[in-house]
Amino acid sequence: FNTIDDLDLDGKVVLVRVDVNVPVENGQVTDATRIEKIVPTIKDIQAKGGIPVLMAHFDRPKGKRVDAMSLKIVLPALEAALGQPVKFSDEAVGGPAKRAVADLKPGDVLLLENTRFYPGEETNDPTCAASLAALGQIYVNDAFSAAHRAHASTEGVAHLLPAAAGRLMEAELTALDAALGNPQRPVVAVVGGAKVSTKLDLLSNLIEKVDHLVIGGGMANTFMVAKGAEVGKSLAERDMADTAREILEKAARTGCEIHLPVDVVVAREFKAGAAHEILPDEECPADAMILDAGPQTVDAITEVFEGCRTLIWNGPLGAFEIPPFDAATNAAAQAAARLTREGKLISVAGGGDTVAALNKAGVADDFTYISTAGGAFLEWMEGKTLPGVAALKKR
Ligand code: 3PG
Repeated sequence: FNTIDDLDLDGKVVLVRVDVNVPVENGQVTDATRIEKIVPTIKDIQAKGGIPVLMAHFDRPKGKRVDAMSLKIVLPALEAALGQPVKFSDEAVGGPAKRAVADLKPGDVLLLENTRFYPGEETNDPTCAASLAALGQIYVNDAFSAAHRAHASTEGVAHLLPAAAGRLMEAELTALDAALGNPQRPVVAVVGGAKVSTKLDLLSNLIEKVDHLVIGGGMANTFMVAKGAEVGKSLAERDMADTAREILEKAARTGCEIHLPVDVVVAREFKAGAAHEILPDEECPADAMILDAGPQTVDAITEVFEGCRTLIWNGPLGAFEIPPFDAATNAAAQAAARLTREGKLISVAGGGDTVAALNKAGVADDFTYISTAGGAFLEWMEGKTLPGVAALKKR
């Protein structure tokens, strides 16, 4: 695909699809990471003489104008990140948007209102895509984290204007390719989180691509059930036991070594600081639940990391929001961070909870790359083609 270095932007209005779908509490952006990450693209477009017009969604207004989901809410954070004022258009398409664009001068940045206020955005209606395309001469997609959506602003417009990937899109694709597309081997994947049922495609794809698969979190309990262990009152999808067994069999065939917890942290209450004990993996009492992996498991995971060149991580190993059940996630993350700092491991992580867990472990800056994507990261780990990325392919 093209990058912004491949196109002549001088004097052109550049429509940039960004993802500024950031967490907001009481009207304040609480994590501006996604906003900060699009700054290089905007600055580089300006440096090449282009005028950036930003298109983005916020939340899920489902095709209607919902005042509480106006993109105005991100303006202060965007202006702070860019160090300049940003103009705002109350409409993303039509006459008002055209007039807002016509008023722009070199050096300006314009943010259009939430594209999801228009029903044609999510249906990828050609009319909606054409109305967006009519606002500029060049299309840049910098929203890898929204690239799993085939929407007018993420996919449709790419077919109507000369298109390029923004800097963040480039960085995401490069990092993900280094982790799973064309990685240095051996590769270990860590997959955690609550449910096997939501990660079946992901597990199935990873088993074909990685050398080691560490399974943690609630989903590990389902695998333990599949192997005949008692998990008491733990979160587990007992009806998925057969599927889990099939995954284990497939892994054995493809030569992917699966690592399940060898010891577990169990408690009778799901609350911070609850009394807990460490037991062998198959010995969870009937009235207790598994809330984290134990220290021997962490040692085993660390040993796997030490033998690998590449790590891809999605999902926490335990109930990381509630100490002390964050211990395994923290310790394994710290081991990965150390090996990365020592130049021994390429470490890539993504997915909402994962980034929160790594931030909490204080290691996010040490990883080789942390994706800004949640759902898109998962779909990419599933081996799916992301429509927003596919549409950027050179025609
Ligand atoms: C995200 O936050 O993962 C992206 O912005 C996509 O949002 P969506 O799941 O509402 O499409």
